[in-house]
Amino acid sequence: MKIKELFPYIEKISDKDLEDKVEKAIKYALKEWNEKEIKDIPFTLLTETDINLIDHTNTVTELSYNAGKVMKERGFRINMDYLVAGAILHDIGKFLEFEKRGDKTVKSSFGKLVRHPVSGAGIAMMFDLPMGVINIIAAHSKEGDFVKRTPEAIIVHHCDFIHFENVKAL
Ligand SMILES: [Fe+2]
Repeated sequence: MKIKELFPYIEKISDKDLEDKVEKAIKYALKEWNEKEIKDIPFTLLTETDINLIDHTNTVTELSYNAGKVMKERGFRINMDYLVAGAILHDIGKFLEFEKRGDKTVKSSFGKLVRHPVSGAGIAMMFDLPMGVINIIAAHSKEGDFVKRTPEAIIVHHCDFIHFENVKAL
């Protein structure tokens, strides 16, 4: 499976070493899933939705990229490579948090013990991703209320909730 086809924004990462690490982290997270299953994984188990995890991730990445560009143009220091890498990786822990049971996606026994921001950050550490990317993954959800969010993590956190809250409101 082509990672670049699943997550086209990966091409926006200008640092090729970083892009390579992002790709390796995704491949590791996906190792228990086949190609058809990947597109069937809902992005959340908290609300009924047909929107899959890949679509959600790409929406959050595009929202984050555009928000980052606007902020950067106004003089904020935004690392666009970290922003895109972190947005793409923010939910990769969900590939471990969820599992298939029949035609349903349910929380895995691992997921009952370790939430996706933690497992996602763990995977990012395994592939030596920079701290600025690990912070985005670890702090994108409520876990981030207990640490400092970088400017890039603030953007991904809000863009994640822009999508999630709008799906809930449908
Ligand atoms: Fe998300």
